Amino acid sequence: MILVLLVILLAALALVARADNCPPITPDPTLHPNFTIQAPAFAWNQDKVRGVTLGGWLVLEPWITPSLFASKPDWAVDEWTYGQYWSNHSCPAAEIAVHWKGFYTAADFQSIAGVGLNTVRIPIGFWSLVPLANGEPYLVGAFEYLKQAVTWAAASNLKVMVDLYGAPGSQNGLDSSGRRGTAEWYANWTNADRATAAVVAVATEFAKPQYGGAVATIGLLHSPQPNAAWQLEWLRGYYNQTYFAVRNVSSVTLLLGSAGPLGSWSGFMQPPQYQGVGISEPILPMFDATTLQYGATDNLRWTCGWNDTLTRSNHNLWTVAEMTAATTDCAAWLNGRGVGARYDNASAVRYPGSCADKSGNNPGAFGAEYTRQMGVGFETQTYVYEAAGSGWTFCCWNTEAAADWSFSLGLVYGWIPVPITAKHTKPCNFSSYIETGAAGRRAVPAGVVTALAAAAWLVSIL
Ligand SMILES: *[C@@H]1O[C@H](CO)[C@@H](O)[C@H](O)[C@H]1NC(C)=O
Ligand SMILES: *[C@@H]1O[C@H](CO)[C@@H](O)[C@H](O)[C@H]1NC(C)=O
Ligand SMILES: *[C@@H]1O[C@H](CO)[C@@H](O)[C@H](O)[C@H]1NC(C)=O
Ligand SMILES: *[C@@H]1O[C@H](CO)[C@@H](O)[C@H](O)[C@H]1NC(C)=O
Ligand SMILES: *[C@@H]1O[C@H](CO)[C@@H](O)[C@H](O)[C@H]1NC(C)=O
Ligand SMILES: *[C@@H]1O[C@H](CO)[C@@H](O)[C@H](O)[C@H]1NC(C)=O
Ligand SMILES: *[C@@H]1O[C@H](CO)[C@@H](O)[C@H](O)[C@H]1NC(C)=O
Ligand SMILES: *[C@@H]1O[C@H](CO)[C@@H](O)[C@H](O)[C@H]1NC(C)=O
Repeated sequence: MILVLLVILLAALALVARADNCPPITPDPTLHPNFTIQAPAFAWNQDKVRGVTLGGWLVLEPWITPSLFASKPDWAVDEWTYGQYWSNHSCPAAEIAVHWKGFYTAADFQSIAGVGLNTVRIPIGFWSLVPLANGEPYLVGAFEYLKQAVTWAAASNLKVMVDLYGAPGSQNGLDSSGRRGTAEWYANWTNADRATAAVVAVATEFAKPQYGGAVATIGLLHSPQPNAAWQLEWLRGYYNQTYFAVRNVSSVTLLLGSAGPLGSWSGFMQPPQYQGVGISEPILPMFDATTLQYGATDNLRWTCGWNDTLTRSNHNLWTVAEMTAATTDCAAWLNGRGVGARYDNASAVRYPGSCADKSGNNPGAFGAEYTRQMGVGFETQTYVYEAAGSGWTFCCWNTEAAADWSFSLGLVYGWIPVPITAKHTKPCNFSSYIETGAAGRRAVPAGVVTALAAAAWLVSIL
């Protein structure tokens, strides 16, 4: 009798325990490497950044991991609404913790180093770094995974570029900022101060000797989109404020997120007053109405046109290009969950082209011409960005379904060469280049801008 009661009591306790006991959201401490620090110092302008972005990991992007969103209502479109969805469920962080544990592992860092890359770029959101406010529904916990990732990188001889992808209110209205919609970061300086505090939290942590100096750069803000002169001044003020706040705790190189024409940053944050400053420039033809239309040859002539622009910029601030091999926006949800591609007329902007053989999760189904174009494009881009700039970061190492954006699949299917520095053709052997880089990457013809539905403008920059 007593035994039966005891069994019932234990069973009841177990039930209570299960109900309250959500799985741990912290990383597995046994996966901490007993490492010898490998990562040596990075010599800017001697070593070139050859990096991959670990997108969609510590900041969710529906197009990189559609599986986390497809099972949820249509209104779950970014990390903000993902958190809102879970706010009414038990164990709200259980699913995202499984994702944090599994989407990238120590083995990936070893593979990345093994193919000759020297850097991983890791996006992070402010909500993982400073206390939540104003009812922000984000799920917190990614910073612990970032710390673990930096130890894996240090043990694998990789440098890390940590990049603030999400600032309070959103700096660009893109899902990659955590909150799709309008860019409200410019609404009040509290938003700037919280972004500064987030960057300082990263700088303070990775200045600790246990990380072996593996964090080579901290990106102050990814892909900001100021849309008025005062917002650009705001951004510059934020960069300046954050520079001095970080220099209190760390001498790490700080990367500015470019906005507007690259040449417009000429003379900004120069030595001797400022030390260790670079700039990150997205060179992504699929998000610009003009460059998206280029055929294979003009796309290469345009890539080569960046050689002069980057040479000038790299004399101003070390300049790293953000690149990929894809030349279209055909990947599903790339422009946001439920938003179509420009390339095949599914969005408000019209272009003649078919997406049928240009994305999806099976590179075997890609057209031979598109695969060839991605291959020549990769070799040409990496030539230009290394010859004229300080290197490149490629989005992404892995994607769930957008194979044309995957470095690891590019290696398997041959549009990325082995070794990654091989050149099968002489890059930039054209008699003339297209110099649109100097004019600004977001030069959209006026007629197109007015035709653009608000949702279609929410391009998902990586
Ligand atoms: C690190 O060392 C500890 C104790 O020696 C061991 O238990 C652990 O498995 C090691 N970790 C790894 C990743 O090898
Ligand atoms: C969560 O539940 C509350 C009360 O049941 C409801 O008012 C709210 O709309 C729900 N929120 C979401 C995001 O489902
Ligand atoms: C600043 O702007 C954010 C985003 O729009 C808003 O949530 C917050 O309440 C504002 N803070 C202040 C102090 O006005
Ligand atoms: C940059 O910040 C410093 C320190 O706060 C300040 O003294 C200086 O005026 C600022 N410079 C610009 C151009 O805003
Ligand atoms: C630097 O640190 C000092 C001492 O903690 C502090 O008083 C000062 O405000 C800090 N400066 C910046 C720009 O954060
Ligand atoms: C896209 O729209 C343009 C202009 O309306 C048209 O010329 C073109 O044929 C269309 N392309 C496709 C693939 O439907
Ligand atoms: C690219 O720029 C670099 C640095 O200015 C220069 O050495 C190289 O010749 C240029 N290459 C081409 C193809 O223009
Ligand atoms: C450029 O190089 C390719 C591959 O080596 C070659 O086929 C092509 O004829 C060259 N073009 C020019 C203009 O030299």
